[in-house]
Amino acid sequence: MSSERVLVELSKGVNGLDKIILRETRGSSAEVYLYGGHVTSWKNDHGEELLFVSSKALFKPPKAIRGGIPICFPQFSNHGPLEQHGFARNRFWSIDTDPPAFPTNSSGKAHINLILRPSEEDMKIWPHSYEFRLRVALGPGGDLMLTSRIRNTNTDGKPFTFTFAYHTYFSVSDISEVRVEGLETLDYLDNLQNKERFTEQGDAITFETELDKIYLSTPTKIAILDHEKKRTFVIRKDGLPDAVVWNPWDKKAKAMADFGDDEYKHMLCVEAAAIEKPITLKPGEEWRGRQELSAVPSSYCSGQLDPQKVLLGS
Ligand code: BG6
Repeated sequence: MSSERVLVELSKGVNGLDKIILRETRGSSAEVYLYGGHVTSWKNDHGEELLFVSSKALFKPPKAIRGGIPICFPQFSNHGPLEQHGFARNRFWSIDTDPPAFPTNSSGKAHINLILRPSEEDMKIWPHSYEFRLRVALGPGGDLMLTSRIRNTNTDGKPFTFTFAYHTYFSVSDISEVRVEGLETLDYLDNLQNKERFTEQGDAITFETELDKIYLSTPTKIAILDHEKKRTFVIRKDGLPDAVVWNPWDKKAKAMADFGDDEYKHMLCVEAAAIEKPITLKPGEEWRGRQELSAVPSSYCSGQLDPQKVLLGS
């Protein structure tokens, strides 16, 4: 069998960390590190990288990898007592060889199932037993699908509550030429203004300074239009009502040791999330949150994401 036909390959990544390479027969691919359950690469069938990973990313525990798709669990950002963005992004996940059946059929697609369970140390900082199953799958057209299933396995009868985000770093040609559609007129919490609540104007979101907002009750479809690349990313999400939009801009970029001074120009985070209304699970209950990413040529024109059309699921 030629190597192109191997759909799932276990390999070594930066600093000898284990990674899984997914390949789709038409040429698209993705890479997932067991460290963080972290997707670090998603390429289209021309071999073009669609995710941003900083040239200064450390790939060294306990620092989370800067870029790709960190998983924020059980806490988004500093919205709680735990470390920033929780601990799932800097734990070692395992390959889940025998996951319970998934509602969405991924058979035939290149996919990998990972699992995270708490260690004794983790139980000291977040005293709950859980199983976090993550499936990363590459669709035939190169779409990247992430499905998270989190189950409360507490035996003490206690529920637990968490917030969550897929902290996706998209690669863009020039942040000044990018706009985000689908979040117009929505309420948001501004992380740069003490999480105060505001309402977005009617226009698509563009970027000319630092931005760090949590959009609330967002549609299931959001688009990032990159004019220079003539590419549009479409994010479809399920179980994740909120969407964080973040670009650190120049000052914060300089302050981050694992991020290049000018790299803010070439990335944008749009994060499918559940933050405003934290998820509570009783023992035995399971939550599911899914995001599907596609990259399409920009003939996909503006206006397609007007709220009415989105609500109707077009
Ligand atoms: C975003 C937050 O999701 O992540 C920002 O909204 C934060 O406030 C950013 O700065 C990066 O966080 P970290 O912990 O990866 O540096």
